[in-house]
Formats: sequence, C-alpha cells, structure tokens
Amino acid sequence: MHNRRRHYIGPVVGIITTGKSRTTQCNGNKVHLYKDLISCGRKRGVFIYYFYPRNINWKLRQIKGYSYDGKKWCYGIYPFPDIVYNRILYRSVEESAEVRNILKKFEQDKDVYLFNTRFLDKWEVHKAINTNKETSHLVPETELLTRETLVIMLKRHKEVLLKPRRSSKGQGIVKIKTLNNAVYSYSRAEWKNPQWIKAANLQSLIRQLERLRIFNHNYLVQECIDLTRHNGRIFDLRSQFQKNGEGKWILTGVGVRIAGKGRFVTHIPNGGSLAAYNDIIPLFNDLAADESQSFERQLKSIGLFIPKLLEEKLQLNLGILSMDIGIDPGGRMLILEVNSKPARFDEPYIRQRHLDNLVDYFIFLTRKKYKRNDN
Ligand SMILES: Nc1ncnc2c1ncn2[C@@H]1O[C@H](COP(=O)(O)OP(=O)(O)OP(=O)(O)O)[C@@H](O)[C@H]1O
Ligand SMILES: [Mg+2]
Repeated sequence: MHNRRRHYIGPVVGIITTGKSRTTQCNGNKVHLYKDLISCGRKRGVFIYYFYPRNINWKLRQIKGYSYDGKKWCYGIYPFPDIVYNRILYRSVEESAEVRNILKKFEQDKDVYLFNTRFLDKWEVHKAINTNKETSHLVPETELLTRETLVIMLKRHKEVLLKPRRSSKGQGIVKIKTLNNAVYSYSRAEWKNPQWIKAANLQSLIRQLERLRIFNHNYLVQECIDLTRHNGRIFDLRSQFQKNGEGKWILTGVGVRIAGKGRFVTHIPNGGSLAAYNDIIPLFNDLAADESQSFERQLKSIGLFIPKLLEEKLQLNLGILSMDIGIDPGGRMLILEVNSKPARFDEPYIRQRHLDNLVDYFIFLTRKKYKRNDN
C-alpha cells in the first residue's frame, strides 16, 4: 500500500483567518503575530502559513497562502496542512455558511487536526462548568435572561450584569444596581461617561430594558461579583492557558486589567489599563485565607479542570484559550469568561512563551499523527 510517511514533508500548519468580512484580508496587527509564529516554527522545522477560506483547493489538496521566509512574505501554493489553527476573529464570518462548511470539512478530514474549532458561547460555557461538581463553585450564578429570571436574580443579588452570550469587549453589557426601596438604576458598559439611569420600580426597569431588545435569549443575567479593587478601581485577571509539547494544559501567563475610574468593565477601550500580575496580586495575598486557597493554587486548579472539561463537554478541540478571572472579597477566584480566540499579550515574555508552546504543541500533534498512520 501507498506509504504516506515516505512522502511526508512536515509538520505543516495552516492558520485559517480573514479580515472583518469573509473576503477581506487581515490587517497588520494580526499578520505580525503570524510572522512571529511562522519564524518560531521555521527554527524548529515546522512549516507554517496562513490562508483565507476562499483559497482552498480541495480536489488537489492545495492551499494558496502566505508564509514568511525571514525577510519577506511569500505568497504561494502550499501543501495541505497536518494541523489547522482557527484564527477567524469575527463571529459573523465564522458563522457564514461558507466558512462553517470549510471548518466542518477540516474537522471531518482524518488527515487534518483542526483546533480551536470555533467561538464559544457564554451560556454553553457556563452550563458546562456549572453542571460539574468539581467546578461549579468557579462561576458566578447565571441564568438565561428572561423577565422572570431577571426578577429572581434581582431578589437574590443586589447587583446583576446582563451580558450578551456572544459579545466581546464589553459591548452590550448592562449593569443593574438595586438602590433602596426597590428602586433600581442601570448603566451600559459602552457609555463613555458612566451614567446611571433610575427606574422607580421593577416594572419600570423592565419596560426600559425592553427598549434595548435584550429579552431574546441572546442574553444572560449574571450575579455581579464585588470585584477586588486597586486604588478604588476594579480589576480582573487575563489569563492564558494552552497545551504544551506533551499535549498537557499549562498556564502561559497572566496579566491584570484595571478598569477606568467608575467603570464596571476592565477592557482597554472602555478606559481600562494593564498591570503586571506580580505588581498587583501580592498586595491581596491576605485575602486568600490559607495556603490551600492561595491565588497560585486557585489558578492552577482552574487550568487543570476547565480547559479539559470544555473540550469534553462541548465536543471541540482547543489548543489555547484565555480566561477572564475575577477575585471576590473573600479571595475566591471566579471565571467571568472563557475565550477561544485569545488576543495577544502585550508582555513580551508571555507572548514568546505562547509561541514556543504552540510550536511544541504542533510537533506533539504531528508525532501523534505519524504514530496513528503507522498502525
Ligand atoms: N459576574 C461579573 N461580576 C463582576 N464583573 C464582571 C462579571 N462578569 C464580567 N465582569 C466584568 O466585565 C468585563 C466584561 O465581561 P466579559 O468578559 O464577560 O464580556 P466580553 O464583552 O465578552 O469581554 P471580552 O472582550 O473579554 O470577550 C470583565 O472583564 C469584568 O471586568
Ligand atoms: Mg471578557
């Protein structure tokens, strides 16, 4: 029989990506990341290129893409990848029929390993974590938003957040506070000057929220954690986990994002700023009651359980993910969000570790493939 191994050049890794729409190219920032990853791969004998969905020739099993030779970009026809890393960064693009179909074909192709299969939905992530005994304590109480669940959650929690299931950068997030005498006020994350609108009672609140068109099953209502503060500003941790050269999940790095003054989300575009983990977190060590509850331990345990759980429960391949983690007044870490399209870190050493780990992981995956094909 035809022996694949003898004709083998590789490992070959393809990064599938697009610009904002299915047919546009991606911008400089992203290309930069690919350049670094491609260069890192070259040093280790891993050939990497990136490509757009429309440039796949399934019959000939060839793809037109872009690689980098250390000096310039090389546009060319490249062999079919052993591994496809999904870096389509727009939900609307990933959900288009054409792209969905392509991803499905890669998924079903025995000779290709597709990872970071797709975007995650906050509700499916919550359910996966919450229905598991070992991990349910790691997420804030959350319900699918309806008028009824809103009323229930406002009875249980003084403050709640309404979050779109499939948002990013805080877009669409609404915070509701209970004031005295069943008076409420709400504000939206994207409002530049934090402004709170009052509602004299529950009916009035619901009526006002109805105008935002959020009672459509695309929103969650979540207990708002009283996040720890630095200089009066809330902060959370942006952590990245990925698989290493043995296919095991490890913590790549973690940074701190501090919210703008008076803001309730930490995103940079919403006035947030970055800080180093080691500059901020040790200030809060007293919160974590004993050694078994140290932040180090909590992070470790999150990394040990969550990524694997999501892969199993959601039936998808993940090689890398990021998590937003908050710390409550009792020093408990809570997972606020899991993201399968992690943005790049600004800290150079974390970024480099991330590239090295990815290449290690590519080599690991290919070794596994050789073994499989040998049997
Ligand atoms: N349950 C919560 N309690 C308190 N603050 C929260 C909670 N959930 C989220 N936040 C704050 O709001 C921010 C945005 O929330 P989240 O990450 O869920 O939304 P997102 O719009 O998808 O963000 P991203 O751009 O990170 O994907 C968090 O980074 C955190 O600062
Ligand atoms: Mg987030």
